[in-house]
Amino acid sequence: MSQELIEHAGAMVAHPKGILAADESSPTLTKRFVAHGLESTDSTRRDWRETLFSSPGLGEYVSGVILYDETFNQTTTSGLSFPNFLVQHGMLPGIKVDTGAKPLAGSDGELVTEGLDNLGPRLVDYYTRGARFAKWRAVLQIDQAKPSAICIQANAHALARYAKLCQESGIVPIVEPEILMEGDHDLATTRRVAGTVLAAVFDQLRSFEVLLPGMVLKPSMITPGTTGPTATAREIGEVSVECYRDVVPASVAGIALLSGGQSDDMATANLAAMNEIEALPWPITFSFGRALQDTPMKVWASSGRDRQRTQASLMDRVTATASVLRPRHLVNV
Ligand code: G3H
Repeated sequence: MSQELIEHAGAMVAHPKGILAADESSPTLTKRFVAHGLESTDSTRRDWRETLFSSPGLGEYVSGVILYDETFNQTTTSGLSFPNFLVQHGMLPGIKVDTGAKPLAGSDGELVTEGLDNLGPRLVDYYTRGARFAKWRAVLQIDQAKPSAICIQANAHALARYAKLCQESGIVPIVEPEILMEGDHDLATTRRVAGTVLAAVFDQLRSFEVLLPGMVLKPSMITPGTTGPTATAREIGEVSVECYRDVVPASVAGIALLSGGQSDDMATANLAAMNEIEALPWPITFSFGRALQDTPMKVWASSGRDRQRTQASLMDRVTATASVLRPRHLVNV
């Protein structure tokens, strides 16, 4: 079991590949469709995802795709389940298993991610039907009093329980503590908060004896708040790597960053800056949602859902992003 986890986690972050996050819940994807004047039905969502996943050559740069339960249970036009379709195209199927961030009792409007009830049997079922990795996203906000200690602890604890359950089912956990970008805080504040949050997450992961080479960390990039003082990609890259080096053990299989609502160019520039830093202890790659899908979705909407043009747009984003990744032989030097 451990060997399989380590192999899959390694494959997920193997150069020159990253992960495509296509696990927006149906309500979230509906909001994005509506913003582009697109109708959202189970059939149009299926068509959108099949268009993306069948892009010629996608598997050369994408190691795995995170699916939402609806897509996991759907079939392609040729009648294959989406997990089987991904495997046929050289990509690992992943599944979002949390049930969303809900109000945290005792906090001032903070959130805790739920989904632990019945998670063990759900993971066994997903594994049987092809899932080889999973995702759980915790959400933390920054302001004068946030994130609170209880919010950090509650989310870290849930992430670790989820990660351990995944590994017991043969599934690689993507551990995603996302610190939202909203706010007027500066880069140093995000750096401090991220250090505290990641340290709490790794404390809990160690307590649950999660196998670190059999997991992937998916943090947010360390950026200033959206209305705070600006920072260059180089500053963001250096501060992010400095923070991860402080708290992320070298034995973790890799770091696959989320894009968090940054523009696609900005997310790629920040990822490039991190990859330019020498002697990284782990591969640093992408697990982007919006930074890979926003532009193709515009093309899909404006072209009357033209498959080829949409796929060309996705491949532009994917190749531009993968091109900034540092080759494996330069990692761990
Ligand atoms: O949970 C968030 C997604 O997996 C990544 O999406 O790159 O748009 O932040 P994002």
